[in-house]
Amino acid sequence: MVGSNDIWPSQSMLDKVRQRVVEMSGRDGEEVRFAVSPYRICPLGAHIDHQGGTVTAMTINHGILLGFVPSSDAQVYLQSGQFKGEVRISVDEIQFLAHIAESNGSDAAKDLSKPELEEAKWGNYVRGALYALQKRGNHLKKGITGFICGSEGLDSSGLSSSAAVGVAYLLAFENANNLSISPTENIEYDRIIENEYFGLKNGILDQSAILLSSRGCLTCINCKTREYKLIQPPKSKNHLKTEFESAYKIILAFSGLKQALTTTPGYNLRVSECQEAARILLKASRNEQEEPILSDVTQEVYEAHKNKLETNLAKRAEHYFSENKRVFKGLEEWASGNIEEFGKLVTESGLSSIQNYECGCEPLIQLYETLLKAPGVYGARFSGAGFRGCCVALVAAERAEEAATFVRVEYSKLQPDLASHIKQGKAVLVCDAGDSARII
Ligand code: GLA
Repeated sequence: MVGSNDIWPSQSMLDKVRQRVVEMSGRDGEEVRFAVSPYRICPLGAHIDHQGGTVTAMTINHGILLGFVPSSDAQVYLQSGQFKGEVRISVDEIQFLAHIAESNGSDAAKDLSKPELEEAKWGNYVRGALYALQKRGNHLKKGITGFICGSEGLDSSGLSSSAAVGVAYLLAFENANNLSISPTENIEYDRIIENEYFGLKNGILDQSAILLSSRGCLTCINCKTREYKLIQPPKSKNHLKTEFESAYKIILAFSGLKQALTTTPGYNLRVSECQEAARILLKASRNEQEEPILSDVTQEVYEAHKNKLETNLAKRAEHYFSENKRVFKGLEEWASGNIEEFGKLVTESGLSSIQNYECGCEPLIQLYETLLKAPGVYGARFSGAGFRGCCVALVAAERAEEAATFVRVEYSKLQPDLASHIKQGKAVLVCDAGDSARII
């Protein structure tokens, strides 16, 4: 288990990455800049962002670090701490293809991800970022030479590592090209990377959390209007660090599953089911001209017509409407500093993901149940899409290490094989809330 209330990224981490960039570029260490892009958790509001629901999020003190220097020309040269190979592309090359995509619809974007155009698979995130920037009319003249790495053991785990990577590249290219882009615009650019470039029908939760969060606050995002606010817990008397903030820790417990199980219905299938439920409810209320997303269906229309939905669709809609309610209740609990009640809502949200949204799989459900039995845990749920990866819990700060030990021991009894694939000491991570993505 790893305890961590450290500042992230640490000086030694920055120094290591800087050294790699110096070796790759032959430039001076002082010229190296860093795009810091944290991972996020979503305590309440799971699987409703793609339906225009309201979600809550915060970042943690771990994430993606991209050290870079601007190139003198259009060349991009990248290496990764996690993945083999290197990426060498030119921003001009992408500009041309992105232009085709813009005029012909998004099919050209699919061509960009054809295997023969890949220098390395992870390089597609770089291409996606360039594609999004250029599609929105930004003129890029300079590439970067950079080294990217994620916090060890935390990739592909349901902590939004893909959005964190996308945001890191966006920030680096914008910085290298002296572009001043707002967080709101970057939320849209990352949406283009995920929805249009990779074809994932996800919502804007991940990148909004990464770009908007502020340590100690709960970030609340209306995914339909894209309005957001930061919910502060009540201040303590000394006004420095709130008692609330030091009262809890975040636990991440890893299942050992990194790939979506082939037998588990995928993310996009669930999104289509939600849309189908919305279509039926809107038709029943003679509103079929509306976009078929559940946020266009009122609670009253849902109650009046839910009997028209077949079992699976009824469960997805029930998840949406019950989760929205938990979010608004949770915002009140957070603002009044009531972490116990907030935690109970997180656990209920986890249960609805299992019973109504029907994501997850046996190991993740066992991990969720184990967390709920651990000492000091206020609430737990799957993290991220919930088809693989990890569970997240909020825990009383003074019991966090004890809870982490409990989960590590008990989970390895339930899933010895999977647990044995997790790197020694990385099965459970105790961490703190973090800040938003930035250039340092
Ligand atoms: C993934 C997606 C998000 C969101 C969550 C579930 O992280 O990328 O858009 O839907 O799953 O809440």
